[in-house]
Amino acid sequence: MKNRIAIIGFGTVGQGLAEILLSKKEFLQKKYNYTFEVVAISDFAYGNVYNSKGLDLEDCIKVAKSKKKFSKDITKWDTTSLIRKCNADVVCELTYTDLTTGGPAINHCKVALETGKSVVTSNKGPAALYYSKLKKIADKNDVDFKIEGTVVAGTPIINLTEGPLAGCEISKIRGILNGTTNYMLSEMEKGMDYNAVLKVAQDLGYAEADPTGDVEGYDARGKVVILANVVMGAKLEIKDVECQGITKITSKDIEKAKKENSRWKLIGSVEKTKDGNVIGSVAPEMISLSHPLAGVMGATNALTFTTDLLGDVTIVGPGAGRQQTGFAILTDLLSINKKNK
Ligand code: HSE
Repeated sequence: MKNRIAIIGFGTVGQGLAEILLSKKEFLQKKYNYTFEVVAISDFAYGNVYNSKGLDLEDCIKVAKSKKKFSKDITKWDTTSLIRKCNADVVCELTYTDLTTGGPAINHCKVALETGKSVVTSNKGPAALYYSKLKKIADKNDVDFKIEGTVVAGTPIINLTEGPLAGCEISKIRGILNGTTNYMLSEMEKGMDYNAVLKVAQDLGYAEADPTGDVEGYDARGKVVILANVVMGAKLEIKDVECQGITKITSKDIEKAKKENSRWKLIGSVEKTKDGNVIGSVAPEMISLSHPLAGVMGATNALTFTTDLLGDVTIVGPGAGRQQTGFAILTDLLSINKKNK
């Protein structure tokens, strides 16, 4: 049966997902027997549309790219009613991240799960602030709450720890968790100005809607909380994680690092202490050029998992971007589909 999808938030990631679904339609059917229809889209800029048999996705992308409003299949339902009443099997929650309150995304996820729809999200708000509550609602309603896209875009992190690394105990996770700041630090090393490079990171779709979250380290801190709670079973809150961003790094600091054969990286870390507590932190560190993390440049992220059975396992991959995060959503859609077959 066709997987019916609702997309809530049709910005960078929503459109990225839609483009992948269209371009890979035949491949997904042939290789994974995955067929789909996008039945609902909600976006505060383009409007709310619904067709229980499937929307014209190509047209929706065209409209969004030309910054117009949707004109076909318009529904009067507001976003919450649309989520509640539509016939989707899975809701992709792709609205902007709000790491203070969780924003409307919390309610979107809750309503979807309560009405028996799985949720796939790249939104760090629900995952960092309410993961265990939402997972409980999902379990109660026998549906999935999948969050691969919240940490390091489509590079497998959550799914890696739940799948291939299952059976290992993970005592430490450490690395580069924010694409925007890694990109900025890389370009600043080449002499580019802070504000100019931040603008490029926004244009490339790396930065959050409000880039303060990236440069102050709040985005990385949200991911540290997700890793601590979801991977290590901790109960950390945002306020428990010490956090410093890259805003205080000057061109002098960058020169100093160069002279010392080092470079600056914004490092997120989660660690189990001897007494079984889990602590997290985010801070810029001067890393020696011989260290493996020093070679990770641009919007690429890298995480090292310290495990009991394998020792250190490092994964390096894209940490942000339209297609890279769209792929994270696809991978969760495919895994739900496989499980339900
Ligand atoms: N703004 C984030 C980053 C996007 O730059 O890493 C992915 O969470």
